Amino acid sequence: MTTPKLFDPIAFRSVTARNRIALAALCQYCATDGLGDDWHIQHLGARAMGGAGIVMTEATHVSAVGRITPGCLGLYTDEHEAFLSRVTKLIASGGAVPAIQLAHAGRKASTAAPYHGGKPIPLSDPRGWQPVGPSAIPFGDGYTTPAELSPAGIAEIVGQFATAARRARNAGFKIIELHGAHGYLGHSFLSPVSNRRTDAYGGDLAGRARFLMELVEAVRGEWPDDLPLFVRLSCVDWMEGGIQLADTVELAKRLKATGKVDLIDCSSGGAAATGPKIPSLHPGYQIPFAEAVKHQAGLPSGAVGLITAPEHAAEIIANERADLVFIGRAMLADPAWPLRAAKRLGAAVPLMPQYERATIL
Ligand SMILES: Cc1cc2nc3c(=O)[nH]c(=O)nc-3n(C[C@H](O)[C@H](O)[C@H](O)COP(=O)(O)O)c2cc1C
Repeated sequence: MTTPKLFDPIAFRSVTARNRIALAALCQYCATDGLGDDWHIQHLGARAMGGAGIVMTEATHVSAVGRITPGCLGLYTDEHEAFLSRVTKLIASGGAVPAIQLAHAGRKASTAAPYHGGKPIPLSDPRGWQPVGPSAIPFGDGYTTPAELSPAGIAEIVGQFATAARRARNAGFKIIELHGAHGYLGHSFLSPVSNRRTDAYGGDLAGRARFLMELVEAVRGEWPDDLPLFVRLSCVDWMEGGIQLADTVELAKRLKATGKVDLIDCSSGGAAATGPKIPSLHPGYQIPFAEAVKHQAGLPSGAVGLITAPEHAAEIIANERADLVFIGRAMLADPAWPLRAAKRLGAAVPLMPQYERATIL
């Protein structure tokens, strides 16, 4: 049996991943003041040792205000940077490429972890804080109305992303992914659902994309040319008046034209608490977005969402529907999902020397 292309190495700039399987960003909600602990070390290390080509951290926030929950990871102090250096070393020793998702929660900030109820934490609660956004429109019922960002406030956050990119480089990450999806700050600027600005950061697609374009520019200023930059997008809002696939293809073309972005990680949804309607949730339901970005915009893409079967992942890559598959919940359930997939698909993948004798399975 020939090795499926899923297990062929793939290069982005100077970085080569041993296969095309990436751990999707998965919040753990158990950091303290943005600082991770043994849980994060174990969680990310296990996925690297389990055979993923790329191991992406959970959404890692560029400021305390930008955290989704009080338990979210951050990268805005020296202590955060030192902790994440341990993470990158461990991921690399497991044979995977260490990647970090840099994020700002925007109007979805100040909420409880899903396993603590997932509700917005109001300003009256000492654990809560004031979220910010492109416009003073709350995400949904019970959410604090975000403070509308001034141009100076926007510039400050762009600067925080640049500083976090410098810290990510110092910590040893090899890929940055900018979180532009799921209703968080980047997406909330892109989507007409949450962005009603009348200045240069609102209006048409060029205006709504200005914030993301500035992030790309600023992050690239601190991120070496030979290291890749990914962007995660909600390719559609699944609601009338929201982002449509044609908008995303146009945005991807603009991102490609910058020469600074190497892949779009194609997700969807999250623009508002009520409104979005996904007509059919089925395995790979977001793959058409990855296909459109790859083939219509000509930018490499990642497919994500309900990809659980190794054969399905192999098919997506073999048929050039996407360049990477991002696996989330299946790899939460099984850190060694890539190794098991290799076995099932008959791929001869080298095991880490410590695990060589695992071929017994
Ligand atoms: C527990 C959990 C935490 C998540 N955290 C993040 C995150 O930090 N950043 C992000 O972009 N997506 C996040 N997601 C979405 C996943 O990255 C992924 O897109 C989604 O789970 C669909 O893929 P899957 O069907 O393989 O799980 C999270 C999903 C889950 C289940």
